[in-house]
Amino acid sequence: MQKTNRRDFLYLSAASFGVVGLGASILTLIKTMNPAKDVMALASIEVNITSLKPGQEKTVTWRGKPVFIKRRTPEEIKIVDAVPLKDLKDPQTDKERFPKNQEFLVVVGVCTHLGCIPGQREALSVNGYKGPGWLCACHGSVYDDSGRVIRGPAPKNLAVPPYEFLNNNTTIKIG
Ligand code: FES
Repeated sequence: MQKTNRRDFLYLSAASFGVVGLGASILTLIKTMNPAKDVMALASIEVNITSLKPGQEKTVTWRGKPVFIKRRTPEEIKIVDAVPLKDLKDPQTDKERFPKNQEFLVVVGVCTHLGCIPGQREALSVNGYKGPGWLCACHGSVYDDSGRVIRGPAPKNLAVPPYEFLNNNTTIKIG
């Protein structure tokens, strides 16, 4: 009788430790899956754009990726507005891409082919497009001044991240 009680006790103890251990492991796993505070802090960034003159671009880092912000001149906006949609691989008007304010282009600076970082070019002349844009030196993809692909192999336009204007349009919040 005494033996049975001792065995039951051992079984129960072992089972209890097992449950507690499993619970602790699950909690640790959940903790490791939550992003760290410093990572969360980078989920959105605020960029002061008052120093950007028309025609100038700045690159910032958001979630580990470069983001190009360009203040375009009225002439540059005219050039991208004039690009026929039928010439584009991923047809989108500039107004559709930047409905909040066409003066400012905000795109993720990662080529949609294999992820290289395209470089800015002042004067491109590609497939009928003449104007500023970006060239990806890795395999030759070209993007116009709206970040739209005008020559492959990139399949898609440069992505437009979620963003908004703050503080009387002096700041862009990305993310
Ligand atoms: S990664 Fe840009 S063209 Fe291939």
